[in-house]
Amino acid sequence: MIPFNKPYLTGKEMHYMYQAVYSGKISGNGMFTQKCQRYFEERYGFKKALLTTSCTDALEMCAILANIQTGDEVIAPSYTFVSTVLAFVRQGANIIFADSHKNHPGIDEETIEPLITSRTKAIVTVHYAGVACNMDKIMTLAEKYNLLVIEDAAHAIDSFYKGKPLGSIGHMAAFSFHETKNINAGEGGLLVINDERFIHRAEIIWEKGTNRAEFFRGEINKYGWVDIGSSFLPSEIIAAYLWAQLENLDDIQEKRKKIWIQYYNGLKDWASKNGIQLPFIPEYATNNGHMFYLVCNSIKQRDRLIEHLRNNGVYAVFHYQSLHKSNFYRDKYSGDDLIHADNYTDCLLRLPFFYELKHEEIALIINVIKGSKEDFS
Ligand SMILES: Cc1ncc(COP(=O)(O)O)c(C=O)c1O
Repeated sequence: MIPFNKPYLTGKEMHYMYQAVYSGKISGNGMFTQKCQRYFEERYGFKKALLTTSCTDALEMCAILANIQTGDEVIAPSYTFVSTVLAFVRQGANIIFADSHKNHPGIDEETIEPLITSRTKAIVTVHYAGVACNMDKIMTLAEKYNLLVIEDAAHAIDSFYKGKPLGSIGHMAAFSFHETKNINAGEGGLLVINDERFIHRAEIIWEKGTNRAEFFRGEINKYGWVDIGSSFLPSEIIAAYLWAQLENLDDIQEKRKKIWIQYYNGLKDWASKNGIQLPFIPEYATNNGHMFYLVCNSIKQRDRLIEHLRNNGVYAVFHYQSLHKSNFYRDKYSGDDLIHADNYTDCLLRLPFFYELKHEEIALIINVIKGSKEDFS
């Protein structure tokens, strides 16, 4: 079976983890954490980067920093992972779900303004498959209505909007290093703060509500409890693993983009003949080789194609379920139908995608798809 995912090891992970373990400093915010954070700040121009144990955790920090209170409203796409909105709900927010574009699962920026009310506090964007949302339009709306923008950049490492790195545009951003992501640490994440107003408090929330980070920098002579917070920082062992990945980021990206292009070139004629939608990259966005997907014409067709691929040794999977129709939220949702989000829920299929996926395996997957007896007309 060709798996859907296989976490890539660069070969240096154990070496750096060993170094971390024997350095005598294995709790968080040590040498490897600082190397990783500096790397992100220098490479992408993020004002402050803080490693977290997951993207979910980074988003929890965003919800606290945005000071979301009961009754506030947060606008987010429905076609996303639960973590995009979970933390805001826990702070007491109502989520106002927006639809995706017809030709791309990212939030349709034209649908946002009518959803804004006097209670709206923030917009959360998701750069689905690493493809940028239309950030100029979203930032203009945010300025007009005095809202915060939080980029859920879980898929979006090393991807750009009009030349600007994703994660550097909103007031805050969250990245994932879960094992399915381009750069992985098993589980891991990154909080990015671009608005200086939030940097000081972010460090405190990150360190269990204490000003320990300032103490370690020698800026104060004792530290204590000054705010709310939690244990959001990962251990040095995770940061050491992540460092090995970051050292190889360019190589990883180059390889993943080649995989994406082979899929695209191999499937584009077949897809256009059969009315199948392939990933769309707007002219303002780049492709970071995070994911390759197909959008079929119906749920039946999608499920049969997944079955056909599995019968031929290829593990393809569907993706998100519209959150406004989830068991948890559907009784709380009173907005319009979100037809594109529902269409991606029913019809999107993701193909195996990982660094070690071989040229011949991709060719085989393409042939299996083309050999399907499914009537796509
Ligand atoms: C859009 C999006 N946001 C957030 C997350 C959560 O990431 P993590 O598993 O690092 O918490 C995911 C998970 O894949 C995701 O797809």
